[in-house]
Amino acid sequence: MIKIVTLIGARPQIIKAAALSRAIRQQFSTRLKEVIVHTGQHYDENMSKVFIDQLAIPQPDYNLNVGSGSHGRQTARMLEGIEDILLNENPGYLLVYGDTNSTLAGALAAAKIHIPVVHVEAGLRSFNKHMPEEINRIACDHISTLLFTPTLAGLNNLQHEGFDTDYRGAYTADKPGVFHCGDVMYDNSLYFSQLSANHSTICNDHHLVSDAFILCTIHRDNNTDEPGKLEDLFATLIRVAESTGKKVVLPLHPRTANVLARNLSPALYQKVQQGSAITLLPPVSFFDMIELERHCSLVMTDSGGVQKEAYFFKKPVIILRNETEWVEIVEAGAGRVCGTRQDEIMAAVEAFTLNPPQIFPEIFGDGKAAEFICRTML
Ligand code: UD1
Ligand code: UDP
Repeated sequence: MIKIVTLIGARPQIIKAAALSRAIRQQFSTRLKEVIVHTGQHYDENMSKVFIDQLAIPQPDYNLNVGSGSHGRQTARMLEGIEDILLNENPGYLLVYGDTNSTLAGALAAAKIHIPVVHVEAGLRSFNKHMPEEINRIACDHISTLLFTPTLAGLNNLQHEGFDTDYRGAYTADKPGVFHCGDVMYDNSLYFSQLSANHSTICNDHHLVSDAFILCTIHRDNNTDEPGKLEDLFATLIRVAESTGKKVVLPLHPRTANVLARNLSPALYQKVQQGSAITLLPPVSFFDMIELERHCSLVMTDSGGVQKEAYFFKKPVIILRNETEWVEIVEAGAGRVCGTRQDEIMAAVEAFTLNPPQIFPEIFGDGKAAEFICRTML
């Protein structure tokens, strides 16, 4: 029996963890034992507990309750707590997801005490080190022992950084194993989209008709924390709603909710709150999110995960950032990188309305990434 410590912390990591926990429970329970550590980076019920309960993830064995803070303070508090747990549990692997501060803290804590790090969603790059996530993912990849890439772009990035992606031998942090396996988020979307329609009432509750609304999410610090940018973005969302005649449905991340009143002009804030163009919602459950993604006509987002899910559900996506790690979506013609530039966003809305993408090549694997990761760890 191999013991794995799985580290979760932010919303998308909790969701991703569901795929591996399910694979372990269904196929590997006699050979893999999972201990779950929650850093507490996300802590509101609708950012954490709702996913653990709805997606049948085992209750975390530990919660460090670090909460919010500056990058240094938050990461330091995690490091201290994770090291204690790893020394106590002495696992065969520490498994981390993605690129958050929780990912970095886990990888650092484990690598320093020679516990092999498994990085799921390795190799992604934005080539923009102004983004905290870019620093987290580069650091994590370079101290990991097993790296699992969700896309070929991820694999190519690692090759360019000098990883020997063909190496198959005894794996260490100095001679790591790189495996291309597809995306655990695709595993999840395939699995949970069979359940969500029976469990979610969100479209009925908000009178949302298929193809008659646009789904949007916004949470990147460079969009939320610069008043001018947030103002531009919300003004654009209202223009999009007016020009398409479709409501924009926007489940609001707490980071964005916290700054909305402060960073929008009073007139725009009032227009947004009044609700005729934009329906603001609190963060929604994963089943609700799947139903919104399934029934919307278009996705506008600065989220990594939501970009991909738009693709899984064959919806065009306008990327509210200046670059994306998920370049294949853009190459396939299903996504456009528009940042917060109103003219580019309006042009993309028009283009996708007139000419919706028809072809969605299999970029993200076969829906069995979690099984592959478990077998490889064994
Ligand atoms: C983090 C990740 C980001 C990821 C996102 C997923 C880092 C550096 N960033 O960004 O990569 O895309 O999670 O959602 O790790 N807050 C609450 N309640 C919560 C959680 C957060 O109110 O449960 C508020 C706090 O004011 C906090 C702010 O949101 O300061 C930002 O939270 P934080 O976890 O620092 O970063 P995210 O923007 O969520
Ligand atoms: N998500 C959700 N409810 C919401 C917003 C997002 O369940 O209100 C899910 C979404 O479906 C995806 C994940 O959260 O699986 C993406 O997380 P987020 O956008 O917070 O972070 P990112 O992927 O950008 O790191």
